[in-house]
Amino acid sequence: MPQIKIAVLGSGKGSNFRAILSAIMSGHLPVRPVLAVSDVPGAGILTLADNLGIPTMVIREEKYRTRLSEDVESALVGELRAANVDLIVLAGYMRLVKSPLLDAFPRRIINIHPSLLPRFPGFEAWKQALEAKATTTGCTVHFVDSGIDTGEIIAQSEVPIYPGDTPETLHARIQEAEHQLYPEVLARFAKPGVF
Ligand code: GRF
Repeated sequence: MPQIKIAVLGSGKGSNFRAILSAIMSGHLPVRPVLAVSDVPGAGILTLADNLGIPTMVIREEKYRTRLSEDVESALVGELRAANVDLIVLAGYMRLVKSPLLDAFPRRIINIHPSLLPRFPGFEAWKQALEAKATTTGCTVHFVDSGIDTGEIIAQSEVPIYPGDTPETLHARIQEAEHQLYPEVLARFAKPGVF
């Protein structure tokens, strides 16, 4: 079966990448990760990729903490183009994506966010949901645009909030939903004719 090529970008522990890899290895997802990129040396996604022989790239950004300098992001675009990626999958990537990358891959960059957008965009969305005394929250996969979690929504999954929830228990429940949703969304992109 033909496979689409993805690059995965992440800054954290990499549990979403792990879920995507599990779906691929179980034979359910015709997707081939061709590059794992992180702005954090030693990030989980780099270790996961290294263990499977998937090429990795560490972004070195010294000027900004919440985005990349234009030249650094342009170099990243060069690597992504060289790897011939169909889709760029953000999985816990903690920087804003700016125009070099957005312009190079229109409607080809997706992200997963731990709330039902447009509610609770931004940092620690599960804490925002608890503070707002919401009774449900969830996760959203969306296209990435220049805003913070504002791009077109592709799919969502709802998660209940229980009275005794702490930030940790709620975040863990949302992540379980993420680990289902992200592979499902990738399967849609992997259908013949999408790219
Ligand atoms: C996820 O909760 C995702 O929603 C958010 O960052 C977290 C990444 O987790 N954007 P992991 O690194 O995939 O475990």
